[in-house]
Amino acid sequence: MFDSGVGAISIAREIRQLLPGLTLHFGVDNGFFPYGDKSEQELRPRIVTCATAMMARCRADILVVGCNTASTLALPALRERLQQPVVGVVPAVKPAAAASRTGTIALIATEGTVNRHYTRDLIAEFANGANVINVPAPELVRLAEAKLRGEPVTESQLAPVIARIFDVPGGQRVDTAVLACTHFPLLREELARCAPRPVEWLDSGAAIARRVQWWLQELQLVLPDLPGPGKLMCTSADGHERLRTAFREFAFENNPEVVSPAGKD
Ligand code: DGL
Repeated sequence: MFDSGVGAISIAREIRQLLPGLTLHFGVDNGFFPYGDKSEQELRPRIVTCATAMMARCRADILVVGCNTASTLALPALRERLQQPVVGVVPAVKPAAAASRTGTIALIATEGTVNRHYTRDLIAEFANGANVINVPAPELVRLAEAKLRGEPVTESQLAPVIARIFDVPGGQRVDTAVLACTHFPLLREELARCAPRPVEWLDSGAAIARRVQWWLQELQLVLPDLPGPGKLMCTSADGHERLRTAFREFAFENNPEVVSPAGKD
C-alpha cells in the first residue's frame, strides 16, 4: 500500500477486515508529504519512483495506491512500470450519485484531486446529472494525521470545511458527501458530528478491499489463517515515532525502513 502519509490506513482497515491473513507493507512518502498542493510535474515521477522502489524492496504481489491524489495522476505510468497488478482509488462519485435523493452531492478532496482532469471526467461520466459541489479541503489531511497521533480535532478546526460543503449555493440540498482523499474517512465521525444535519459520508475503502480479494483469486494466492503482519517503509527518517504511533493497530514486525527514491532526497 502506498500513500503520502497515513491515509492508506482507511483502506487498510477495510482490507484487514475482509482479508485478515494478508501481509500489509505500508509505503509512506513522508519525505514529500503532502501531495495535495504539489504540481503534476513534480508528483508523477516522484510517485512512480517511490512506489517502484518500495515494491522492489518488499516484493509484494499487488500494489494498492491508497491515495486519490496519486491515483488520479499516476496509475497508467505505474501499470507500465510494474509487473504486479496496481489497484487505485477512485472517488466514489458513481455510488454517491446513485445514493443521493436530492441530486446534490459534495466531493471533498485535496486541491489536486478536485482540479484534476481525471476527476472532472469521472463526474461527467458517472455523476448521472447530479449537481456536484467541489470542496477542496487540504487542511483535513493534516488534521487526520494529527488525530492518529492522538491529538484532538476540534469543531472550530472543521468549521471552514463544513461551511464549504453546506453554506454555498446548492449546499442546503447536499445529502451525500464523497470522501475523495484517503485521509478523510479517518475523520468521518468528527465531520458527521459538525455537520448541520445527517448526510451519507461515502468512501471507496470497501470497494478497494473487494478488488484486492478479486486479484488474490485471479493470482491463485491462498492466505494463511493467522492474522497477517504489517510492515512499514518510508522515504524520510524524520518522524519515525509518529508513524509508528499512527500505524500501531497493524501489529508491526519492523522499525520503519527508509527507502530513498533513486536520485532524490
Ligand atoms: N491521502 C491522500 C489522498 O488520498 C493525499 C493527501 C496529501 O498528501 O495531500 O489524496
